[in-house]
Amino acid sequence: LRVGLLFGGRSGEHEVSIKSARAIAKALSAEQNANKYEILPFYIQKDGRWLAGEAPQKVLGTGSPLLESEQSTSVGHLISNPQAQTLSKWQSPSQVAEVDVWFPILHGPNGEDGTIQGLLTLMQVPFVGSGVLGSAVGMDKIAMKMAFEQAGLAQVKYKAVTRAQVWSNPCVFPKLCDDIEAALGYPAFVKPANLGSSVGIAKVRSRQELEAALDSAASYDRRLVVEAGVVAREVECAVLGNDQPQASVIGEITYDSDFYDYETKYTEGRADLLIPAPLPDAIASQIQDMALQAFAAVDAAGLARVDFFYVEATQEVLINEINTLPGFTATSMYPQLWAHSGVSFPELVDRLIQLALE
Ligand code: ADP
Ligand code: DAL
Ligand code: MG
Repeated sequence: LRVGLLFGGRSGEHEVSIKSARAIAKALSAEQNANKYEILPFYIQKDGRWLAGEAPQKVLGTGSPLLESEQSTSVGHLISNPQAQTLSKWQSPSQVAEVDVWFPILHGPNGEDGTIQGLLTLMQVPFVGSGVLGSAVGMDKIAMKMAFEQAGLAQVKYKAVTRAQVWSNPCVFPKLCDDIEAALGYPAFVKPANLGSSVGIAKVRSRQELEAALDSAASYDRRLVVEAGVVAREVECAVLGNDQPQASVIGEITYDSDFYDYETKYTEGRADLLIPAPLPDAIASQIQDMALQAFAAVDAAGLARVDFFYVEATQEVLINEINTLPGFTATSMYPQLWAHSGVSFPELVDRLIQLALE
């Protein structure tokens, strides 16, 4: 079976995607998978160009994006301007036509949000992970929270805001900030609705910081969300399956920084993963139940990592978010949670591909 490993992508999580793809490629080449799968890597550059052939092999080998000079000489270039080209045009390169099943491992916008999933659906080739709806609802924090609310899942208090409210209507802005302050208090978290890896997120403690953070978040996204800040432990659960998904053991993230920001996530040694998380059994099973409910609420498929806040003082579990294409590097939480639940990394990628073919 030829697996089209699709990675890189036009998002702030491009580098993470390369690392995830590298780990998946290694697992597909592991002894138990090598006879079953052949890897056809496709690399989407930061500018949106799709590359097949030697270029993606090189990126997988080094674990880093191509240098400027390498980009111009790269071979197997599929699309120079995706917007200007039709599907039929890029079905012609033989490598795309050869793919039996796609494994998109793109994080964030233009990859985790339903866009690629729509393209792959139109191509009528099966792919790993959630479809258009699950990906799109999981990506947009406002749509996601509405789906969770509807499913009866407890979450932090929040307010949805639009860029238009922040920017184009100066009369509305002070009232908007008044309402946010009254509803949520401080500290609060201001977030672009459609990013990941904490990009663009600010913790605010005053009116001045709130105003600045809204203005800054509006430069990332048309849709924003402001949440009441909670003091809580951060715990995560991995889900695997389609219509009868399973939940993994629970993992916890600990760190010394103010919150789990980009630097803490991706600087070696800044955060520790604790698996299994030291939690009372009843809380751990409540988190697993909630993870499965969240998976169904957004119509996810294949895989997802569901993240929670555990307020120890009140023993309350609040859902934070679902990630339909979670970090998949050798040290990432998702594969580690499954390793601790008895599913090795090579077996995990095998199961995901088989789930895509169901
Ligand atoms: P992303 O989708 O980029 O991962 P999150 O919504 O998970 O964004 O927020 C990133 C981090 O910010 C969380 O892991 C947590 O450390 C902190 N955080 C976000 N929202 C809150 C909140 N309401 N209360 C406390 N901490 C928060
Ligand atoms: N968005 C990053 C990759 C994660 O959720 O793991
Ligand atoms: Mg998060």
